[in-house]
Amino acid sequence: MQNPLVPEWLRSADPNALDAKIWPRTARRAENGALEIGEIAAADLVRSYGSPLYVVDQEDFEGRLIAVNRAFSDAASKIGTTAKLYYASKALLTADVMRWVVDAGYSVDVSTGGEMAMALAAGVPGERLGLHGNNKSLVEIGRAVSADVSAIVVDSEIEIERIASVAGAQDKVQPVRLRVNSGIHAHTHDFLATAREDQKFGIAISDVPDLVAKIRSHSHLKFLGLHSHIGSQIFAVEGFVAAAERLLELHANLLDGGDVPELNLGGGFGIAYTPEDHPIPIKDIAARIAAAVAAKCEQLGISVPKLAFEPGRIIAGPAGVTLYSVGTLKDVQVTESGSSATRKYVSVDGGMSDNARPALYGAEYSATVANRASSSSPALSRVVGKHCESGDIVVNHAMLPSDIAVNDLLAVAATGAYCFSLSSNYNFLPRPAMVAVKSGLAKQLVRAETELDLMSRDLGLNSGGDA
Ligand SMILES: Cc1ncc(COP(=O)(O)O)c(C=O)c1O
Repeated sequence: MQNPLVPEWLRSADPNALDAKIWPRTARRAENGALEIGEIAAADLVRSYGSPLYVVDQEDFEGRLIAVNRAFSDAASKIGTTAKLYYASKALLTADVMRWVVDAGYSVDVSTGGEMAMALAAGVPGERLGLHGNNKSLVEIGRAVSADVSAIVVDSEIEIERIASVAGAQDKVQPVRLRVNSGIHAHTHDFLATAREDQKFGIAISDVPDLVAKIRSHSHLKFLGLHSHIGSQIFAVEGFVAAAERLLELHANLLDGGDVPELNLGGGFGIAYTPEDHPIPIKDIAARIAAAVAAKCEQLGISVPKLAFEPGRIIAGPAGVTLYSVGTLKDVQVTESGSSATRKYVSVDGGMSDNARPALYGAEYSATVANRASSSSPALSRVVGKHCESGDIVVNHAMLPSDIAVNDLLAVAATGAYCFSLSSNYNFLPRPAMVAVKSGLAKQLVRAETELDLMSRDLGLNSGGDA
């Protein structure tokens, strides 16, 4: 009899299968049943670089860079315009990742001085950067202007003066976009359109004309156009379309006061974390957005602006896998609605410090045993971390083989975006290494933290306590 705790979408899951929409493109089971990524056995990676370990399938990442760029460029060219792609570095930012991104022709979206410093240090030219954020300091703006970043996104009225004064002091003309709170909120399959979404980002639609006039009144600012980002992990194309249409109405009105060369529609394109997720292919999303833009421009009697997008998760997410070692196992008897069933708790050597998304957003993931295949029956399992927190869940629902054992390796799919970025040292856990794999070669991108790294900032230890 089926365990009543198993969610509908997991009922037919095969614990050994690697669903192609969830796992990176080079993930496969070798003849002995063990998981390989980039033609390297997961167990060998853990032997060399430790556990837990972030693994990036470089071929998958680079393939996605190409596919996403092509999707938007083709769609834009069909409506007589261009699409500029900014990789949203907050998804995954390392020096090597920056090189892959720049080599694929992308610009890079950064949202803090730290991300900007990292991208610049990795060799991203200033002209390929765009700076976001709802509270950019004068120092951050100063660094962005002196690096000649291609755009700074104005997020509040205060920032107009701030950016203008910094650009004036450096005797430069800084291109800026204005982020609009479009009132479109999209969450996975649904979207909601209100007058103003209740969140911190962007300018109210009604304030846009005055603020654009203000930007235009500054000789050290150049207005590029409007920007919107309606959320993340979105499957509902209707949300992107509605935001584009709202922004184009504003855009058309602004043409009376001068040139508006661009329209930036942000990122947020969803990926599959579980068999339940069915993202629409990116080329279809791009085509639907482009068609809506063309139709709206025709209706408004304006020419189609250049388009810009900021994809992050859709490039980095599916390329990443986290490997963990199983430490303890426990069968927990759960009684729900009068019936009792078993959930296997599988504790691994990481947790919410290397993947905060389940704790932060209730995110679901998929997992498989990585060091072997198994023919034993699937058991409803919950993969949990080693933190002192009952919400420290890595995979909320997984069908893992009932013979899963201590020291087995577990692979969790689609961890390439917002896991390393959101990682922490909660409970003084050193953060894992990250390795890129491609065609049988592994390259360490980030070394593992040590306990000494964690202690090195504590002046009570390092200066005799008198600092
Ligand atoms: C302004 C902006 N652009 C782009 C992104 C990237 O979103 P995603 O990784 O979902 O594509 C984000 C993510 O929060 C964002 O805030």
